[in-house]
Amino acid sequence: MTKILFVCLGNSCRSPMAEFVMKDLVEKAGLSERFQIESAGTYAAGGPVNPPAEQKLAEHGISCAGKFSRQLVKADYDRFDLLIGMDNLNLVTMQDLFDNDPEGKLHRLLDYTSDPRNIEDPWYTRDYETAWQDIEKGCRGLLETLQGKRNDRC
Ligand code: 4NP
Repeated sequence: MTKILFVCLGNSCRSPMAEFVMKDLVEKAGLSERFQIESAGTYAAGGPVNPPAEQKLAEHGISCAGKFSRQLVKADYDRFDLLIGMDNLNLVTMQDLFDNDPEGKLHRLLDYTSDPRNIEDPWYTRDYETAWQDIEKGCRGLLETLQGKRNDRC
């Protein structure tokens, strides 16, 4: 069982999209029982998924019903094997919270692709299509890495 926590700032746009894209990918691969997948925010307020993010998932046949944002907490470090941020700010915040990542669990989603960079926050850019494409590419790269099919990150 691999336990993955996707992390962004508000847990209402990028990390919930990553959570439900990844759940969809592992389900389609017949691997759901091998993964526990959740998401959290470094400053999350407990609200629902932002409607344009929910809509972008729905366009691709993916439901995020029942998801409410939740605050990242220190105990998450022990609960999960991989804590995957969307941008450098998420990583810096997690490094602080998790005592500089002694077990090497912190990663950035697009570092699992051949195009390693931040995923811009659509809360500010309003560009949910680009966020969708980046998140889908990152989740595919992550799954391939976990299946041993690519070597960007382990
Ligand atoms: P996210 O985007 O980090 O991708 O969920 C944001 C969502 C909400 C806020 C900021 C970013 N906010 O300030 O409420």
